[in-house]
Amino acid sequence: MNFDRLAPHYEWMETFIAGNRLQRARTCWLEELRGRQRVLSVGEGHGRFSKSFVARFPESEVTVLEASERMLTCAQRHLSPAAHVRWHHGNVLSWNTDLPFDAIVTCFFLDCFPPDLLATVVERLARCSAPDAVWLVVDFSLPARGLARWRARAVHGLMYTFFRLVVDLPARRLTPPDELLRGHGFELAARREFEWGLLRADLWRRTAR
Ligand SMILES: C[S@@+](CC[C@H](N)C(=O)[O-])C[C@H]1O[C@@H](n2cnc3c(N)ncnc32)[C@H](O)[C@@H]1O
Repeated sequence: MNFDRLAPHYEWMETFIAGNRLQRARTCWLEELRGRQRVLSVGEGHGRFSKSFVARFPESEVTVLEASERMLTCAQRHLSPAAHVRWHHGNVLSWNTDLPFDAIVTCFFLDCFPPDLLATVVERLARCSAPDAVWLVVDFSLPARGLARWRARAVHGLMYTFFRLVVDLPARRLTPPDELLRGHGFELAARREFEWGLLRADLWRRTAR
């Protein structure tokens, strides 16, 4: 998958299609990151999460890991050079870090992966999380039943087809990461749904085993 081609268009497309809806989901648990010293945002994209994080907690540091160089450049444009951001151009599947993070943020990132790759991504991120880390997972979701489920299915169908054609997205459909997160010691602390359950913002907390 390579988001370089889409990078210059990502932000206006988001605004045109979804207005501020995705950003509301990205930032709904922002306050839960207060006091977290080492925050890692993976697959940050165009930088809207980091921009809000830095504006809210100017003294904290966020590490951004992003595989697309052009996305990273877009994100950097959003943030002042004085902001406490460590930028890494790299792939989560091969990136290594020594220090544990006390918060992981993945916005519209885990839903890019098919089940086998998702398991590896979650495993790698869990490995670089502190024993009391929190993990903000913001993604599309599939409601359990009813009209909302049919609506979400239609939106997912369009979305996955678009991203497969444009960025060669490896996922064909959404794989919920919940069981994988539980398997690495995280428990769901809070969940908010938006747009009839089409979007979901989860706060996961790791508990000592
Ligand atoms: C669907 S976009 C989401 C962007 C942004 N987080 C948002 O909230 O809209 C997925 C992002 O993850 C990045 N990405 C995909 N695979 C990656 C990987 N293996 N390691 C790091 N970043 C990756 C892409 O380049 C892209 O910017």
